[in-house]
Amino acid sequence: MFITFEGGEGAGKTTILKRLAQRLTEEGYQVLATREPGGIPIAESIRDVILDTKNTMMDARTEALLYAAARRQHLVEKVKPALEAGKVVLCDRFVDSSLAYQGAARGLGVEEVFQINQFAIQNHMPDLTLFFDIDPEAGLQRVMTNKEREQNRLDLESLAFHQQVYEAYQQLLQEFPNRIERIDAKFDIIKVEEQAYNKIKAHLT
Ligand code: TMP
Repeated sequence: MFITFEGGEGAGKTTILKRLAQRLTEEGYQVLATREPGGIPIAESIRDVILDTKNTMMDARTEALLYAAARRQHLVEKVKPALEAGKVVLCDRFVDSSLAYQGAARGLGVEEVFQINQFAIQNHMPDLTLFFDIDPEAGLQRVMTNKEREQNRLDLESLAFHQQVYEAYQQLLQEFPNRIERIDAKFDIIKVEEQAYNKIKAHLT
């Protein structure tokens, strides 16, 4: 079971993913919790390049290709073997992030970005995607007040950029109603976690 967590900044995805990984493990599931871009050394190195606030010169297509390259390596080195071993894979972001951030917000085109990602993922789409729905302004506010979270190059983009990301996710939700489930992320972490837990359990049983 390949489950991805998606949404804008400050939606609580990362915290909830960690909590759910622990909860499902305690219930006896074999769980792999991982993230994109990253999760393995090669992809973490690519992540450092993409998110470095000094790399203001980075071209949008370069950015899209780097995310796809990190995705490819992470998929073949970590995600696929875990799925083949029967594990539940919880992945913080996947291809929908590229469609929303690079395809829509950077203006490269959702279809074009999907094409280059198809080269990387070869049809390996998630079984379930949880979209953590939070108003972008509220999400960015959370990010700014979270002292533990380091600001990255994409956090520095304008509110308009993050609005476009948000709208793109709404569109994806409409386009893939069987794969993507909406989680209302405006509540406190416990309530949001409960919604996510219930959706996952419904798919696991
Ligand atoms: P994170 O903050 O969730 O760890 O993600 C890092 C940033 O990278 C976040 O701003 C979203 C962005 N991103 C993309 O723009 N495209 C992608 O394909 C992925 C995976 C992340």
